[in-house]
Amino acid sequence: MKPKNCLIFGASGQIGRNLIRGLTRKNLKVTAVTRNLHQKGYILKTQANPGYLDIVEANIFDLTKIEDLIKKADVCINLVGILFEKGPNNFKNIHVRFPAAISEICQKHNVSKFIHLSALGIENAKDSKYAMSKLNGEIAIRNKFKDAIILKPSIVYSVDDNFTTMLMGLLNLAPIFPLYYGGKTKFMPLHCIDICNLILNLIENETNYKIIECIGPEELTFKEIIEKLLKLMEKKRLFVPIPIFIANIMATFFQILPKPLITRDQIKLLFYDNIPSGKYKTNFDIGKDFVLKFENEVEKYCYMWKETGEYSKKKH
Ligand SMILES: NC(=O)c1ccc[n+]([C@@H]2O[C@H](COP(=O)([O-])OP(=O)(O)OC[C@H]3O[C@@H](n4cnc5c(N)ncnc54)[C@H](OP(=O)(O)O)[C@@H]3O)[C@@H](O)[C@H]2O)c1
Repeated sequence: MKPKNCLIFGASGQIGRNLIRGLTRKNLKVTAVTRNLHQKGYILKTQANPGYLDIVEANIFDLTKIEDLIKKADVCINLVGILFEKGPNNFKNIHVRFPAAISEICQKHNVSKFIHLSALGIENAKDSKYAMSKLNGEIAIRNKFKDAIILKPSIVYSVDDNFTTMLMGLLNLAPIFPLYYGGKTKFMPLHCIDICNLILNLIENETNYKIIECIGPEELTFKEIIEKLLKLMEKKRLFVPIPIFIANIMATFFQILPKPLITRDQIKLLFYDNIPSGKYKTNFDIGKDFVLKFENEVEKYCYMWKETGEYSKKKH
């Protein structure tokens, strides 16, 4: 039987890279789309054996080129997402217009599955542009591709993430650490491998669930996450609760930077718990338990942020 061709947008990111490895290991063919082959080609190339992976450079709004790629795909997976806006790379374009366009093209060419990554905990965050754009993206997709599968993950971590690695980098540098909303916001972190295995399963099997909230096995507050990271790094830091108006002033300056540490919109989003809404099934509800625990997994890669780096490494 001809192997399925899986077309991935946003393939060079954390989830994309892990997913390429999982898909090609199962003998599925992957076409990975990137905006910049020179910058991302070497990362993508090493994720699969030759013959299983094609890498294509494309502007995601070059819809003629995108349609040519979609025509040849059996499965289309959209992993493109941004955390802050810069010029035309704004939330509306990236989280609404682009998924609406590709889901429509997928429907037109009878692509058998369209899988889209949205986000957890966005329904109540009406004052966050990020959250509302992700939500509007879900609605737009559903209108264009009725059976699209939409996954809504809590925070996804792995050695390839921008979350634990960024936080450990910051904790390493600064003696004090700011806590927004007292660090009480709840998350249910999930390991990247777990969500990639779920996507793999959804490609290979039929499902009745069209929206799945994806969560890890533990509920942790932001403060608990930072405490766990500090414990793993064998470091102590002073927590400073930051009044939101000061956080906003700081974020106003940060968001001028090309890659802001935090934006005003992210501060708004941090107010809302990142836990299941109760409106949709979670991966646990549908029998897909994610078992990898935050502390156990981060322990495997946190050693470079310890005082003695690789010499502190325990055997796993
Ligand atoms: N990681 C999490 O904790 C988390 C949580 C909830 C939801 N999600 C969602 O899950 C999806 C994948 O997450 P991830 O962590 O793998 O993301 P990621 O590491 O940030 O990667 C996203 C990819 O999207 C592409 N991209 C970014 N901006 C783009 C733009 N303006 N135009 C075209 N492509 C662009 C980039 O690929 P190129 O540079 O190669 O073009 C990038 O590799 C995203 O939609 C994200 O919102 C993630």
